[in-house]
Amino acid sequence: MDHDLRERETRVLEPSAAAFAEAAEVLRGGGLVAFATETVYGLGADAADGGAVAGIYAAKGRPSFNPLIAHVADLDAARGIGALDQRATALAEVFWPGPLTMVVPALPDCPVHELARAGLDTVAIRVPAAPVARDLIAAFGGAVVAPSANRSGRISPTSAEHVVADLDGRIDLVIDGGPCPIGVESTVIAVLPDAPIALLRPGGVTRAEIERVTGELPVELAAGTDDESQPLAPGMLTQHYAPHSQVRLGARSAEPGEAVLGFAGQPHGTESSVAHLDLSPTGDLSEAAANLFAYLRALDDLEPRAIAVAPIPADGLGEAINDRLKRAAAR
Ligand code: TXA
Ligand code: MG
Repeated sequence: MDHDLRERETRVLEPSAAAFAEAAEVLRGGGLVAFATETVYGLGADAADGGAVAGIYAAKGRPSFNPLIAHVADLDAARGIGALDQRATALAEVFWPGPLTMVVPALPDCPVHELARAGLDTVAIRVPAAPVARDLIAAFGGAVVAPSANRSGRISPTSAEHVVADLDGRIDLVIDGGPCPIGVESTVIAVLPDAPIALLRPGGVTRAEIERVTGELPVELAAGTDDESQPLAPGMLTQHYAPHSQVRLGARSAEPGEAVLGFAGQPHGTESSVAHLDLSPTGDLSEAAANLFAYLRALDDLEPRAIAVAPIPADGLGEAINDRLKRAAAR
């Protein structure tokens, strides 16, 4: 069971100026708003709010933290988040607004929270075309991260009814924009320095259309499915953030020279600990999720002998936290 998931009332609103103002208020307060896009319904949160992002994973019941797409108003707003090279800019000018998501290097001061980027140095950006999505982003005035608004393992929703069927009681609002005209998720490509454009997820924008704009046929890295429990494993892309240091899991005490990543006050550091951070002193799994990647990175930067990580409970978001920690320890 998800112990950190409080039951809340889910309201469905028709699009109106008042509805968008209310939805923006909910986002500012760290809440969750599902909204229509031209592809599928998204489950949106303030991209900069780690607690709100943790709430997305909790509501979806995702067993792991997959990186999310940041939805923005236009190319200018995209440039405030990531580095778009000539190829990305040319593609944006042709396909935005629309069903193309580009994974690009995140800016050093990228406002999209590390948890939404799953600790990666890249960020996925899309400018949606659907009026509901555009009006919501405009009313909010910032980037909205949103995966598809379904429970993990279920198919993507293309109507407000689908969203309610999956997420009733777990999210605050649904903005009903009617059925999604495209009905399949956006095409996801990586446009990264010194690398060919790579197709990560096929969608409405085809490889041939991308070639027509860039003169370059994207290499195919797509697994061919959108199985959220099995993130794509493209060889050239670091899909998972991995620390350089060794990671020791389930640590009940610290050994000399280790950095300590605690939870709920455990384990205590010692005099010879390199550093000590607590993911959540009060034992709150949402807070722990929001701090996970930033704290791992901060401890890793100190180049300790190892990072000793406290045992994390397995319930609720603990499953996703443990999944990421296991991957970090496996290398
Ligand atoms: O049409 C869509 O794209 C919908 C609507 C709501 O915009 N959104 C959607 O999000 O399908 P989601 O979370 O279900 O899928 C996002 C995809 C995943 O395959 C994820 O791994 C990939 O984008 N992705 C996001 N950030 C990435 C990154 N930094 N590197 C590689 N892949 C990334
Ligand atoms: Mg999805």
